[in-house]
Amino acid sequence: MQDPIEKRLQDKYKEVPKWAEDFPIDQDRDSNVSRRDFIRYLGLVSLGFFTGTLGMWAKSLFRSEQVHNYKRMKIIDKEDLKIGESYVFEIPNLKEPAILVRLSQDEFVAFGQKCTHLQCPVIWKKDEKILFCPCHKGAFNGATGDVLYGPPERPLPKLKIEVLSDGIYFVGMERGELV
Ligand code: FES
Repeated sequence: MQDPIEKRLQDKYKEVPKWAEDFPIDQDRDSNVSRRDFIRYLGLVSLGFFTGTLGMWAKSLFRSEQVHNYKRMKIIDKEDLKIGESYVFEIPNLKEPAILVRLSQDEFVAFGQKCTHLQCPVIWKKDEKILFCPCHKGAFNGATGDVLYGPPERPLPKLKIEVLSDGIYFVGMERGELV
């Protein structure tokens, strides 16, 4: 004789629930459909990742093109900057501050003025020949822009300049980016 609890369970599961009438499932093909759906799902996810990666790549390409679009500009007349002095100027199309230093008669260097730690403006310290950041006492070599001490971990962005008889020109970046 059949256990009454077992019989009640069997009867219960014989009944077709309302949702199953509306959305009938072919039990034999159920696992195939699930596998196919799973593969379709994986395909969609992969496509999503691929599209996202492509978008990021295109964006970075666009951004780097934007960043590299520097305009040549005259910074200052050579004779207007004395040996050992500095001159702060702005890259016009980027509105980014930069600092030009005259190290000797014919030696000029220029760097982005924002400290690579937390973006405070660096100042030229003539006696020590350093670019000093007063915010957290960081310092960069005045000739190379390399970190000397303090919290910054990266050198200052270095500008490419041309020294001509009629003035000092900014022509692009030698190291790093300003933005
Ligand atoms: S912002 Fe320059 S050392 Fe911190």
